[in-house]
Parts: sequence; structure tokens; C-alpha cells
Amino acid sequence: MGVRKAAITAVGHYAPDKILTNADLEKMIDTNDEWIRTRTGIRERRIMENGASSDMAVKAIENLLSRRNMSASEIEVIIVATVTPDMFFPATACLVQQKIGATKAWGFDLSAACSGFLFALTTGAKLVESGTYSKVLVVGTDKMSSIVDYTDRNTCILFGDAAGAVLLEPGTEDGYGIIDSKFYVDGSGGRYLCMTGGGSLNPPSHETVDKKMHYIYQDGKNVYKLAVKGMADVSVEIMDRNGLKGEDVAWLVPHQANLRIIDATAERMGIRREQVMINIEKYGNTTAATIPLCLSEWWECGKLKKGQNIVLAAFGAGYTWGATYVKWSLVNPQKP
Ligand code: UT7
Repeated sequence: MGVRKAAITAVGHYAPDKILTNADLEKMIDTNDEWIRTRTGIRERRIMENGASSDMAVKAIENLLSRRNMSASEIEVIIVATVTPDMFFPATACLVQQKIGATKAWGFDLSAACSGFLFALTTGAKLVESGTYSKVLVVGTDKMSSIVDYTDRNTCILFGDAAGAVLLEPGTEDGYGIIDSKFYVDGSGGRYLCMTGGGSLNPPSHETVDKKMHYIYQDGKNVYKLAVKGMADVSVEIMDRNGLKGEDVAWLVPHQANLRIIDATAERMGIRREQVMINIEKYGNTTAATIPLCLSEWWECGKLKKGQNIVLAAFGAGYTWGATYVKWSLVNPQKP
């Protein structure tokens, strides 16, 4: 046996029932279905009406635990990637720990916006590789509707609510699991995608609320340019340094922010559309949840197969971006 690698041994997800369609948005703001679909690929998104990010995380974890036939008391670490924590503190990981009854676990939140799940996945994998922990939960959960201004057509069409979770355990076979990651941050991009109110810089006040500083601000064009380049460059970098060609990659699992960014990334990697996990039309951009939501849905319908090479890629606020190479090790669910 070579170096101990962490492997994804279970997946789960949750998306709230309430659907907000492009037609619904047409009644709220000056937009139209055609513009939204052609510019972004989004048709509808989900909205969490009652409950917070921790509640969606709990449902995704319950889905995972039931599929794995495992009790929450076996979990040792919980890492929650989110930009919409229930509160500034305590950490959402603590709330999740209590709600699922993970009596032996410790945990923490990780903030890297749309790259949050990938940063958390590698962090969790390192805890497993170190030999210290054997059951690490990595969760991406975001209730984006809680920070979206539904009068701002530039942003409100983009985002939705969801959660996804994976379990990391020591891999049992050489060459399988979380093989490699490459990440970047560039703080000079911070001002193009941010929420400026409510923190220690601009503590909440009537003024910050009047100025709508508690909502997402995005300079879409700037983010778009950097996202296309960042996600494609880092995906090609991770392929090159692991000797992968387009035909070797079974699945690209991209962050779902914009179908045009996804297509540009796939093209640079030499990957066909059919090899790309895309569900942006159903959920929009769910920030930290997009990638585990894809993994869980694709695994559920039997399309993720043991031994496949998959590349996960993300770009988000910060700027933050990166890619992770995974040799998939989880066996398909039995199909009836
Ligand atoms: O997940 C984190 C990372 N985030 C991203 O990766 C998002 C990156 N950015 C984008 O995906 C795109 O920039 C958007 C989808 C946000 C916008 O697409 P765009 O092609 O860059 O459009 P734009 O902002 O340049 O706007 C083009 C036009 C403007 O009108 P004028 O100035 O040309 O008359 C906008 O006012 O479209 C207008 N517009 C809209 N029209 C109908 C903007 N939003 C809307 C809307 N409906 N919802």
C-alpha cells in the first residue's frame, strides 16, 4: 500500500421544494426567460422558505448517512463551507453537529465562496491522509436567497439554495481517492463580488441596510472574464501535472455559475459536453453546494463509476479558484 489517500465513500444532497422559475422572476423584475437562459443557462432555482443553511446541511447529511447506513455518532470531523452561515458565530458546523447528533465530532466553517467546497474537500482529505481521522464530513451549504436583493436583476436571477455533502474515509486501494489539488486566491478581485455590510468593516446599521450592503454585489463582467480564464487554466494545470488528456477524464464537475463559463472550461480541457456534469438549469448558482450536489445526483442515477477520472473545478469570490483530481472509488448504487 502506498501513501494513504482519502476517498469519497458516501454522498448526499438536499434541495428545497419551492421552485422560483424564470417566469416567476419576469413578474418581479424587468427580465425575461430568454435572456436568463441564453446568458446563464438557468431555468429555475430552489428557495428555502423555512430554515437556514444548517437545516439544508442536516438534510443532505441525513441523505448521506442513510445511503451509507451509518450513524452520525461515528463522524469525527464536520467541515462546513458556506457564505451564508446561520449566524456569524457559533459556526454552522457546531449547529449541524448538534442537530445530527454527531456526539464525537469537532468541526469548523470554511469561507471561500464558490470555491468553498473544493477548499474544504482538500482540507478534509489532508486530515484523513495524516492518519489522525477516519470519518470526515465535508458539506457545502448556502441559502443564497437570504443575501439576494430580489429587486436587482443583475444578481437575483443567478442564485438558489441547496446543500451537498460527502464523507471522506481512508482509501482502501492504491491510486484511488482525492489525488491532487491546485488552488489560488487573489484578493485584488475582492471588490467585484462581495457583501460589504454586516461585518467589522461596516457593522450593521440603518445606513448599511438603506444602502443595501447586506446583499450580494457583483460586477458580472469582471467576474465572468476572470472566471473563464481561472477555471480553465487551473483545470488544464491539474490535468497536465497528472498526465491526463481530455479523453482520460470521465467527468468534469464544474461550479455551476454560468453555462458559458462551463462550456469554455470544457473546451479548453478538450472535453465533450456529455462528459460535463450540468444541472445549473434546475438549481442556478448554489455557491458552495454546486459541486457536491452534482456528485450526489450523478452517483444516484448510476453515472459515476468506480475507477473514473474526474476533475472538480471552481471559481468564486475572493477571488478564489482551483481544481481537484479525484479517482472515483465509490461503487454505484444497485439499480433495480
Ligand atoms: O459563482 C461566482 C462567480 N460568478 C460568476 O461566475 C458570474 C460571472 N458573470 C456572469 O455570469 C455574467 O456576467 C452575468 C450572467 C452575470 C451577466 O451576463 P453578461 O453577458 O455579462 O451581461 P451584462 O451584465 O453585460 O449585461 C448585458 C445587458 C445590460 O444591458 P445594456 O447595458 O447592454 O443595455 C444589462 O443591463 O443585459 C442587461 N441585463 C439584463 N437584462 C435582462 C442584466 N441583467 C439582466 C436581466 N434581464 N436579468
